[in-house]
Amino acid sequence: MKFKELGRTGEKLPVIGIGTWKLGSERQKEIDGIRYSISNDAAFVDTAEMYGTEELVGEAIKGSKTFVATKVSPHNFHKDDVIKACNSSLMRLGVKQIDLYQLHWPNKSIPIAETMAAMEQLVEEGKIRYIGVSNFDVKELEEAQEALKSNDIVSNQIEYSILVRSPENGLSKYMADNHITLIAYSPLARGAIFAKRYAPISAMLSEIGEKYGISASQVALAWLVSKPNVVAIPKASNPEHAKQNVESGSINLSEEDLAKIDSFLPDGP
Ligand SMILES: NC(=O)c1ccc[n+]([C@@H]2O[C@H](COP(=O)([O-])OP(=O)(O)OC[C@H]3O[C@@H](n4cnc5c(N)ncnc54)[C@H](OP(=O)(O)O)[C@@H]3O)[C@@H](O)[C@H]2O)c1
Repeated sequence: MKFKELGRTGEKLPVIGIGTWKLGSERQKEIDGIRYSISNDAAFVDTAEMYGTEELVGEAIKGSKTFVATKVSPHNFHKDDVIKACNSSLMRLGVKQIDLYQLHWPNKSIPIAETMAAMEQLVEEGKIRYIGVSNFDVKELEEAQEALKSNDIVSNQIEYSILVRSPENGLSKYMADNHITLIAYSPLARGAIFAKRYAPISAMLSEIGEKYGISASQVALAWLVSKPNVVAIPKASNPEHAKQNVESGSINLSEEDLAKIDSFLPDGP
């Protein structure tokens, strides 16, 4: 597994973490999958109060040393609500401290300064270690950073995959230049890579994968995390998928293959 620094924190994150949105239908199998990933160096799990998976994550990480990221929902961005939401997440996760606490989406109706004051209070109280955001554009990142007095925004979790290349239009460069880690969500385009309409993309990924003895999904993930500053959080309820995803964090694709994938721009999902 390769690791990348989270922001400028000195903290090393595995390039492949664990997504948990929509888990819960096969609880024990999913907990086993998370535990498998954790014990194979992908000890970085992402959840959110909105997902309803914090308790499942709490059970899966019990007794392990795992980097835990969760998110506060936009309707809870008033100061007291952020504090309450964090306390509830801590309870559900069964941990004393959240490693990365993220604003799930921007919320224009609540001043960012008020929300960030609550986030800094949580850092001071030791309830969270790092402040991150999700689904923020460049302007929103600038405003969020300005609203902080003594902390940095260390990450922005955004959609990025071979099918969703919009971060390449300036946002990922801004983030790299400002030491904000890009946590790529839906890195397998929610499975759409294998949809019929994207057959040429999956064919290209499979053809590249054959050379290395790896799957098309592994090529897609290895390509994504080859980008400086990018880590990815695929979700897998199938244990074989979880195994493949963890392995992706150690794969090196050749410059030629990376360039081939780079130039294969889709027409959008
Ligand atoms: N911040 C946000 O607003 C936001 C929004 C969306 C998602 N997220 C986060 O990002 C995580 C991942 O995104 P996502 O769940 O939307 O989609 P994703 O990870 O891109 O795709 C998940 C789909 O891909 C399949 N899959 C996983 N590994 C595979 C493999 N090796 N080979 C073939 N298929 C594979 C899964 O199947 P199985 O389940 O059957 O294994 C599932 O159907 C979420 O769980 C969540 O934590 C954040």
